[in-house]
Amino acid sequence: MKYLVTGAAGFIGFYVSKVLTSQGHDVVGIDNINDYYDVNLKYSRLTELEPVTKFRFVKVDLADRTGIANLFETEKFDRVIHLAAQAGVRYSLDNPFAYADSNLIGHLTILEGCRNNNVKHLVYASSSSVYGLNTKMPFNCDDAVDHPISLYAATKKSNELMSHSYSHLYGIPTSGLRFFTVYGPWGRPDMALFKFTKKIFDGDQIDIYNNGELARDFTYIDDIVEGVVRVADCVPEANSKWNAELGSPKNSSAPYQIFNIGNGQPVALLDFVDALEKSIGIKANRNMMPMQPGDVYKTWADTDDLFKAVNYQPKVDIKHGVQQFVDWYRAFYKV
Ligand SMILES: NC(=O)c1ccc[n+]([C@@H]2O[C@H](COP(=O)([O-])OP(=O)(O)OC[C@H]3O[C@@H](n4cnc5c(N)ncnc54)[C@H](O)[C@@H]3O)[C@@H](O)[C@H]2O)c1
Repeated sequence: MKYLVTGAAGFIGFYVSKVLTSQGHDVVGIDNINDYYDVNLKYSRLTELEPVTKFRFVKVDLADRTGIANLFETEKFDRVIHLAAQAGVRYSLDNPFAYADSNLIGHLTILEGCRNNNVKHLVYASSSSVYGLNTKMPFNCDDAVDHPISLYAATKKSNELMSHSYSHLYGIPTSGLRFFTVYGPWGRPDMALFKFTKKIFDGDQIDIYNNGELARDFTYIDDIVEGVVRVADCVPEANSKWNAELGSPKNSSAPYQIFNIGNGQPVALLDFVDALEKSIGIKANRNMMPMQPGDVYKTWADTDDLFKAVNYQPKVDIKHGVQQFVDWYRAFYKV
């Protein structure tokens, strides 16, 4: 099968491209290689993909409507895994327009490509941040998600809404995946695990928000990727029996579905820091800070729907996952 993977130089897109090609699929990966974080890491991921004959990289911006339209028309993709986005909750307070350009316009460009070229399945990244002010735990895709607390979260919820309208209007099967704090080797420098690791090695203080009273459903990269490729094979169908009064928000009369992909076990931030200190073998210099605007207190994924649909439950525990990351970090940055 021929796949388009957007955000292929990014953390998750890099792994998804590797796994799809190893399964025998042809993958065209696209990315604009923006400088939100160190571009050398993005280029290094692409270098890893270079020997893979079934992978081809095209540098293009999602905002380039003609470029993306031409790509869809020439390549005739069977499926699209759309992971390119402006990620990060905190940065959306500083640079909101980057989110409108990449996540709203960019998502529309991909939807239009799918609409005009008979793509058989669009799988796209949503986020646990859509749960916003929700407090009922664990977070379930049956819950209403109408109260985002960052613009990033609002764009991800918008992606789900935009996708539903295209599934309804044009019959495009779409699957939205709410990822829960993804971590692992080749991970993002703007995320806590990477930042803390760097600071501990450099002997700098680490900032611990809300005095450590936070918990995250950390999900190891291999678990995320396994979920993504399994969902790609699980194409949603229109369900004529669904109706808006009785039906769930996670599916529809249109060929549309939403899943959580999380580990299903929230870890307290301080336990996470303990695990990191043990893996590195150095005690962190902890700087306790107040809560940050835009952040949520706790995330916890209900993953029953994912298990029922694709017979897979994320399973890597935090100690093992953090150790894998630290081993990679040491080797990559030679520390
Ligand atoms: N990593 C997580 O914990 C997490 C959690 C929830 C959701 N997500 C979502 O998963 C997806 C992948 O995340 P990631 O962690 O791999 O992030 P990432 O930043 O490493 O990867 C995203 C890639 O998209 C590219 N990109 C951004 N805007 C673009 C544009 N306009 N045109 C072309 N390319 C563009 C970037 O250069 C980057 O390489 C994103 O949609 C993100 O919002 C990630």
